[in-house]
Amino acid sequence: MKKDLISIKDLTSSEINELFELASKLKLNRKTHEALLKNKTLGLVFEKPSNRTRVSFEVGMSELGGSSIYLGSGEIELGKREAVKDAAKVLSRYLDVIVLRTFSHNRLIEFAEHSTAPVINGLTDLLHPCQGLSDVFTIKEKKGLKGITVAFIGDGNNVANSLLYACNKMGIKVKMACPSGYEPDKAVIKEVGDTVSFFNSVEDAVKDADVIYTDVWTSMGKEKEREKRLKAFNGFQLNAKLLKLAKKDTVIMHCLPAHRGEEITDEVLDSKQAIVIDQAENRLHVQKAILVKLLK
Ligand code: CP
Ligand code: NVA
Repeated sequence: MKKDLISIKDLTSSEINELFELASKLKLNRKTHEALLKNKTLGLVFEKPSNRTRVSFEVGMSELGGSSIYLGSGEIELGKREAVKDAAKVLSRYLDVIVLRTFSHNRLIEFAEHSTAPVINGLTDLLHPCQGLSDVFTIKEKKGLKGITVAFIGDGNNVANSLLYACNKMGIKVKMACPSGYEPDKAVIKEVGDTVSFFNSVEDAVKDADVIYTDVWTSMGKEKEREKRLKAFNGFQLNAKLLKLAKKDTVIMHCLPAHRGEEITDEVLDSKQAIVIDQAENRLHVQKAILVKLLK
């Protein structure tokens, strides 16, 4: 693996398979790996809120024998209190590895360029690689990878972009239905080639899919666009009526947090087909594998 985990694009399929093998091992005996990252310190620099990413990284680090320091918004103040490069250089003298969650993807790249410690993308406006890797790990656990099709309904955002890269690397096809103007990033679409196909109707997208995935219509940082987005995404809700058109054993995925009643109904999110809690748990196991590989 490279020094940093910025994008799934930078990983080979065999590196992803190795990560998954390690994650499965770590998942089996969660509390018996304290020697792996003993005396290592993780820094979490978060400019947006988080439940899963923060807690799974902190717990993961502790289970691997290391410790963590959380630096929320209003603490480092990248680019405001000090230049991104100064903060990156200084933090990497103290810390062994850094997770950065921020808005602009370029800020993450700049930070990683100046950090001598490995940097993990904890989500930017463009990508969410830890999510995409955990999602495909979860699909592999639940369904295997052979001949699998994922339907993605809704906003072609950070989560969708990373899911596309992960599916591309692992041989999964993705059927997408997004409102016009809310498709995934153009460069990502180009790079994943025939991994993705686009559908005008959500009904056509979910037909024959093994997994149906959705994410919020209003991501963190887009709150001012909420009213406009609610209108644009009308008809893109994952609800019981849509689920009826899919295969009986289709599973429902969502990165969480969900905006219940917007992109997904309570009925679907609370249904037996939803695997979102297992999906969230797997963030822990996959990220532990990422930490071990980067610090090896
Ligand atoms: N899915 C995810 O990254 O959740 P958080 O924003 O709570 O970390
Ligand atoms: N697309 C969402 C994902 C949250 C984990 C956001 O960026 O807010």
